[in-house]
Amino acid sequence: MHILITGGAGFIGSHVVRHFLKHYPSYTITNLDKLTYAGNLANLKDVDSELNYRFIKGDITDGNFLQNLFQENSFDGVIHLAAESHVDRSITNPTEFVVTNVLGTVNLLNAARACWQSNYEGKRFYHISTDEVYGSLGREGMFTEQTPYDPHSPYSASKASSDHFVRAYHDTFTLPVVISNCSNNYGSFQFPEKLIPLFINNIVQNKPLPVYGKGENIRDWLWVVDHAQAIDVIFHKGQNGSTYNIGGHNEWSNINLILLLCRIMDAKLGRGAGESEKLITYVTDRAGHDLRYAIDSSKLKRELGWEPSITFEKGLELTVDWYLANREWLDNVTSGGYQHYYEKMYCGR
Ligand code: NAD
Ligand code: TYD
Repeated sequence: MHILITGGAGFIGSHVVRHFLKHYPSYTITNLDKLTYAGNLANLKDVDSELNYRFIKGDITDGNFLQNLFQENSFDGVIHLAAESHVDRSITNPTEFVVTNVLGTVNLLNAARACWQSNYEGKRFYHISTDEVYGSLGREGMFTEQTPYDPHSPYSASKASSDHFVRAYHDTFTLPVVISNCSNNYGSFQFPEKLIPLFINNIVQNKPLPVYGKGENIRDWLWVVDHAQAIDVIFHKGQNGSTYNIGGHNEWSNINLILLLCRIMDAKLGRGAGESEKLITYVTDRAGHDLRYAIDSSKLKRELGWEPSITFEKGLELTVDWYLANREWLDNVTSGGYQHYYEKMYCGR
């Protein structure tokens, strides 16, 4: 098998590349990534010399480039993760999200279709999406695969649109596709603009922890290594044309998660109990902030036997350990444009 993984230099993508190289040494893995601010080849330093791995720097918004890439390679499968992925950035610059997430996905669908349409046998286009397409829950209920789409942020609207295109290419052109919608991921190599790595970095530096609104919003957190395992199972065994929800059965209000993180960090950094908590600062809420996400992943468990492997407390501790042991990685990704991003996003909030 020759698999094209897009966005493989990003947070989840790098875990997926690593997972496939480790578990399928007979496969060839091509990683296509533009290396935006979120893409970093250092995320793959431990595997980039594998003989069955190849990196290509390229942009999915360039349709001609993709057509040529598919003609020159006989890909059997695509695992599509490349995207703009941060809600706050989508509020600042929605158009970039339309171009990358919608047009980029359609370009990829066009290239796969043009190359594969004479014979779809053994081919698979796997689109990685988010639970945010389903909108926001009240205090009760969970998102199932049947929940109607109701996105609220430009990010989730662009992901919802890309999901619709993937389904449309299946229904209209019989392209063999599968989609998964996953809850919030956490773990190593996540860019420190997202809640957990941002707060770990700020705690280390004794900087304020900017909690949006009252901190009452609820997310369902999944360890990224478990997401990579779910992607493996769905890629190999998922039913053609199907959607699978992936989640951790692990709901936390932001404030409770942050308090847990502060406790773990105090212990790891040898600080007195309650020290890091003092950094909590309530700031202006995110516009259109979804109250609650919760995923019902029972279909995935029932049909394909996947379940999360570790508890959140354990996964969070492993994650903290990783960031503390990899300060150089953190320093590298927070140099350059990061300061400018941080000031724009948080100063005066
Ligand atoms: P990320 O921002 O860390 O990585 C995205 C990667 O895509 C980067 O390596 C970037 O360089 C690359 N990329 C961006 N634009 C590109 C382009 N035009 N051409 C080629 N490459 C490009 O994102 P992530 O958190 O790893 O998310 C990966 C995927 O999973 C996304 O599709 C996201 O919507 C989805 N997802 C993420 C989460 C989460 O909690 N992070 C949850 C569910 C689904
Ligand atoms: P985030 O990691 O950006 O993921 P998403 O918006 O995709 O869920 O945010 C997770 C939650 O944390 C979300 O409710 C917003 C909140 N949040 C803060 O309170 N402060 C912050 O600085 C960030 C980045 C997020």
